[in-house]
Amino acid sequence: MSNLDAAVAIISIAQHASPIESGHIEELSAHRTKSSSFTIRILLRLESILLIYGVRSILLVVLHHFYPRMSIPSHNRRNKPTESVIDYTDMRTKVKRIAVLTSGGDAPGMNACVRAVVRDGLAAGLDVYGVRRGYAGLINNEFIEMDSRSVGGIIRQGGTILMTARAPEFCDEAGRHKAIENLAAWEIDGVVVIGGDGSLHGAVDLDAAGVKVIGVPASIDNDIGGTDMAIGVDTALNTILDAMDKIKDTATAHQRSFLIEVMGRRHGYLALNAGVAGGAEMIILPSQPIDLSAIEKEVNAAFKRGKPHFIVVVAEGAEIDGKTATYALADVIGKTEYGVRVTVLGHVQRGGSPSAYDRILGTRFGAAAVEMLLDGKTGLMTAMRGGEIVGIPISEAVSQPPRLHPDILRLAEPLSM
Ligand code: F6P
Repeated sequence: MSNLDAAVAIISIAQHASPIESGHIEELSAHRTKSSSFTIRILLRLESILLIYGVRSILLVVLHHFYPRMSIPSHNRRNKPTESVIDYTDMRTKVKRIAVLTSGGDAPGMNACVRAVVRDGLAAGLDVYGVRRGYAGLINNEFIEMDSRSVGGIIRQGGTILMTARAPEFCDEAGRHKAIENLAAWEIDGVVVIGGDGSLHGAVDLDAAGVKVIGVPASIDNDIGGTDMAIGVDTALNTILDAMDKIKDTATAHQRSFLIEVMGRRHGYLALNAGVAGGAEMIILPSQPIDLSAIEKEVNAAFKRGKPHFIVVVAEGAEIDGKTATYALADVIGKTEYGVRVTVLGHVQRGGSPSAYDRILGTRFGAAAVEMLLDGKTGLMTAMRGGEIVGIPISEAVSQPPRLHPDILRLAEPLSM
């Protein structure tokens, strides 16, 4: 045995031996030449002393200097991770089976996300289960094993192959209890919840109950805090723009006003961005005061300036006297000589093949969610920030108010002239 091999053998035994077993070290060291035996013995004695003071690593670095082929172990003497070191390799081996569900209002790109969770999960050696109909399926035990083929061809499909539901029963303690029991019975180590605000609140509850969960924001409303974008927003915006362009053709032909009501719940993201990108003459957002008398004057002034149409985009969350503002606005604009027509775009905005952006976003979010579960993380939501995917606490995301970009807000008026 060479000096070097002997040193490596001694170090490896020393790692596993308790201080009482140090006699074995001496037996082995008898095979070495006198000088190196003496040096190593001194160093190992020194190590025992240093170990007490928690500075063993210094000695290992010194040994490594003299014997470069020796590897410096990252674990302590009993081969357990030290408290300050998070052993992600170990955590990865603990996660064996994950589940994925889509919940709440569907959003184009959910399928891309499901596909990424399934295929990236399988590639990491996991069993992947799909839960049909969101939280309702968790309660009613609707688990299906997914394989690579089960998500074939879905990246271009709108809706969600797992189907979705609004599940009020999950808000009850009994419903949640049943869902958690089912997850335990299927031996699921972690769940990916793809959905909007309500679904992410459900994920917070699961996390609080001890279920490992990662949320993925998916809602055409883009009303989830902490992320620049949610899955489905881009496709919905493009659907609205397509409709707006078509409506503009007929509005121009007749020199008419049109009200186009868009979705978004209590948030004005779709209305603002579609209004700016589609060249609307007016945008009505939630929680902004609406001056009906000023609107009539503005419509008349615009046609007099030579505008061939007057397009108003109304957020469904904008209200007058507790009702969506659309019909009160129609009554006022209808009094002008240009007339008015109303188009409520409705659920058309939720369907359709996802845009390239939503396919990529869904894919990146899905893969990031799998990575987070493999790393032993829980209670996080995948978020897009400045082009990068990060994990933020779901509880933080659902408690932050969504915001409208001030630049776009500022531009809305001057660009409508
Ligand atoms: O949250 C997505 C969304 O499409 C909202 O924009 C809209 O207000 C709501 O869902 C409609 O919900 P439902 O499909 O249950 O009528």
